[in-house]
Amino acid sequence: MDISTQTVITDTKLKSMSEEISREASRRRTFAIISHPDAGKTTLTEKLLLYGGALELAGSVTAKKKQRDTASDWMDIEKKRGISISSTVLQFDYGNYRLNLLDTPGHKDFSEDTYRVLMAVDAVIMVIDAGKGIESQTRKLFEICRKRGIPIFTFMNKLDRPSMTPLELIDQLEKVLNLHAFPVVWPLGNGQNFKGVYDRLRKEVHLFERVPAGEYKAPVSIRDIRDHLVKDLLSEQTYNEVVEEIALLDDAHGGFERDAVLHGMTTPVFFGSAANNFGVELLLRGFLEYSAGPSPRKAISGWIPLDNPHFSGFVFKVQTNMNPLHRDRMVFVRVCSGRFYRDMMIHHVRLGKEIRLSGCHSVFGRNREIAWEAYPGDIIGFVTRADFRVGDTISTDPNLVFEEIPRFAPECFAFLHNSLSSSYKSFRKGVEHLLAEDIVQVFHLQDHGSNLPLLGAVGPLQFEVMQYRLKDEYGVESRLESMPWEVLRWLDAPLNDTDLKRSLPHGAALGTDEQGRMVILFPSEWSLKYFSEKNPSTRLLDSPGKT
Ligand code: G4P
Repeated sequence: MDISTQTVITDTKLKSMSEEISREASRRRTFAIISHPDAGKTTLTEKLLLYGGALELAGSVTAKKKQRDTASDWMDIEKKRGISISSTVLQFDYGNYRLNLLDTPGHKDFSEDTYRVLMAVDAVIMVIDAGKGIESQTRKLFEICRKRGIPIFTFMNKLDRPSMTPLELIDQLEKVLNLHAFPVVWPLGNGQNFKGVYDRLRKEVHLFERVPAGEYKAPVSIRDIRDHLVKDLLSEQTYNEVVEEIALLDDAHGGFERDAVLHGMTTPVFFGSAANNFGVELLLRGFLEYSAGPSPRKAISGWIPLDNPHFSGFVFKVQTNMNPLHRDRMVFVRVCSGRFYRDMMIHHVRLGKEIRLSGCHSVFGRNREIAWEAYPGDIIGFVTRADFRVGDTISTDPNLVFEEIPRFAPECFAFLHNSLSSSYKSFRKGVEHLLAEDIVQVFHLQDHGSNLPLLGAVGPLQFEVMQYRLKDEYGVESRLESMPWEVLRWLDAPLNDTDLKRSLPHGAALGTDEQGRMVILFPSEWSLKYFSEKNPSTRLLDSPGKT
């Protein structure tokens, strides 16, 4: 075989590999569901799985949510608080699509974990309780998504209960979130009289039937809006209102622009009831139709195409002791380019080490299955003892480094002390392992007597979880010393320490983050404002590298 034939074979192979990767990537949809606690995120997750064929009977996820508390001891804390701490990753197929659903803890104290998950998805479904409208946690999570410019799909849930009117709900999206809303479907009634929805793009009415406890897919009949059955089902008043509203929407809202959705400028809105399976399939289909597959990710050297011959991904979550019996550390990676296969050798770019990725899993809830291959958009989890941190790049290319995942300014600060000197070694080991999960951020104060790290969290419950896990998993008691700061800002550029110290308001302190970047801790928003007014030329950032 001469050299030119060899080159042709290699080129052909590369081309077919690149085509395979692009094909597989384009059918991936990697997303998260965001909501205020209790809006119905878990129920919707379960129903998406039901429609995706991953569950035969709905009820198993919520049942698991309840069972889980007894499955593992440290989950006691979930039971006590009635909240979910650990994120799970679910993968399922629908038609030709492969969906990766990253679950996010909904409680405000775990926002930081949620933020990280939002860095690993390509779209979100925002669930809103139609009886309550937009709530605080939804607004906070929405802002993160907006900053990333990712597509947001809205599901107005619980229409089977008395709800705000659909026009009021749309108005809230536009006024409170300042987000252009395009209702893809429009509800027919609400509460006891919620009979179905009108699909505005296909111009058809979907009438639902209730099924016992929402366990099975709800039977649907599709009709024309002028069908007498539709008129008979709704009261005359509701029917007339719906027809009028639809005409109004068609006039006021213009056409549907998928591009605006893909840029996060317009949210397609769906109405339904997750508990009753109403409107869930329309949401799923609409989501698949109007969202897009993964797009290239930015590395320090530039954009990395999906079909790059090199496999690459970044760590967005580290969880130690997933199984307390084995003391393992599970690292979750979002695949960004190339193809992953089992037992692959990769570079841990930050450490400059080569590592074999054996023991790789795709994760379905808490159950692990061996991952044989993965493509851009997929999430893989692997068990390791190596030092992996959130944001680390792994790749077959030793020179590929993804841009840092943004951190968010913590609002609570504390020192953690070891209570018993005899358990110092276990204390250190436990703290080191848990810090590797990045459940709290670490800072070092200047001019502080001890060299103890200062811990920062978005909410105080993160400290409580840390103490609980130290005791439960490492057998050590700890004491928390809360510190009075409430606001932290990064400095845009290093400044002269002496000048800076002189201008600090009373109670403020200087420090550095783990990467040695300078931060200022303020006792209150007022103190921050005072400092900013006195030092207009000092730029302060609420996330490193971002104003
Ligand atoms: P979350 O994950 O966002 O916190 O919410 P989750 O799904 O756990 O739902 C919160 C509550 O709202 C649950 O009731 C759930 O059944 C209910 N719910 C979810 N979707 C709907 C809906 O479409 N209609 C109505 N009426 N209720 C809905 P729960 O009483 O806390 O628990 P459960 O005993 O009903 O499971």
